[in-house]
Amino acid sequence: MSMKKRVLSGIRATGRLHLGNYLGAVKGMLELQGDPNYECFYMVVDLHTITTPYDKETLKESVQNVVIDYLACGLDPEKSAIFIQSMVPEHVELAYYFSTLVSVARMQHLPTYKEKVKQYPKNVTMALLNYPVLMASDILMYKPQLVPVGVDQEPHLEVAREIARKMNQMYGTDFPEPKRFSTKGEYIPSLKGEGKMAKSVEGSYVNLADTKDEIQKKIRSIPTATKAGGEMTPGIKALFTFAELFLPKKTEDFKKKFNDGTLQFQEMKDAVAEAIYKELQPIQEQRKKIEKDTEYVRKAIEEGAEKAREIARQTVSEVRKKMGLS
Ligand code: TYM
Repeated sequence: MSMKKRVLSGIRATGRLHLGNYLGAVKGMLELQGDPNYECFYMVVDLHTITTPYDKETLKESVQNVVIDYLACGLDPEKSAIFIQSMVPEHVELAYYFSTLVSVARMQHLPTYKEKVKQYPKNVTMALLNYPVLMASDILMYKPQLVPVGVDQEPHLEVAREIARKMNQMYGTDFPEPKRFSTKGEYIPSLKGEGKMAKSVEGSYVNLADTKDEIQKKIRSIPTATKAGGEMTPGIKALFTFAELFLPKKTEDFKKKFNDGTLQFQEMKDAVAEAIYKELQPIQEQRKKIEKDTEYVRKAIEEGAEKAREIARQTVSEVRKKMGLS
């Protein structure tokens, strides 16, 4: 048995990955995959995807696309278990056991739940309310130390830690209290100068699949100002966030120019766009290759799921015993 520490993360299949997913989550996933002290489990969470309205005709394709994006970004099935959540039905079973310890009020007060209720007032379902419990199950199933996710997922992680504590107290299980593994891009702002980059907000994101021209057009759309200097608006701050992430060496110079009023925003934007494209281009090239190799993708998921199931069976069997069910 390996004594490696574990890592788990997941992304919903709500479309192709964007820069926020890449910088806040995938980069952390890659960093930990490269560390021999960790054993990594990375999912596409299709069961979470269906907690809000979705298209059943295209769900499978969307899931597949996230898997391909994972592989194109550098997740390696030889090093990490890559799988699809619903291939391990134990996640649903464990979530049910966990739900016996979670109050309805606690779930109703979560910011992510409140946001979704506003966004989809006609779809306030049990699955939506239960979202964080299923996520706690995803995580605790593998008893990981670290969860590479963006800062927006912190409230969900807190729920997972609470569940771990309660399970351990009530039933003598040994769930760890996993911590978030953060990256430099743990909070990527929206291109619209308000809030975070999000798939559900049109015009807020750069897709990993965007062409050079699309990226340039999108970065140019960040609301800045005609003149540099003075207090930074949220749009200008967002532009500087991208500069710090993609052009760290030039950012000081941009800032100096901003302060003395000589910064040309268009020039800065085009330099930032170019640098973003430079990072995405190899991923896009890689994706073209992987897309064609359906057998490689199928095998990666099959093997990843097998590895995950083995652990999931153990955890669920242990919980069933401790809870007096078997
Ligand atoms: P999801 O699908 O909304 O987002 C996937 C990942 O991308 C990160 N992210 C961002 N990071 C920085 N800046 C942004 N603007 C930005 N937008 C998205 C998210 O923080 C996340 O890491 N609940 C999860 C999915 C999930 C999960 C899990 C994650 C289900 N079970 C178990 C980890 C472990 C979610 O909705 O992610």
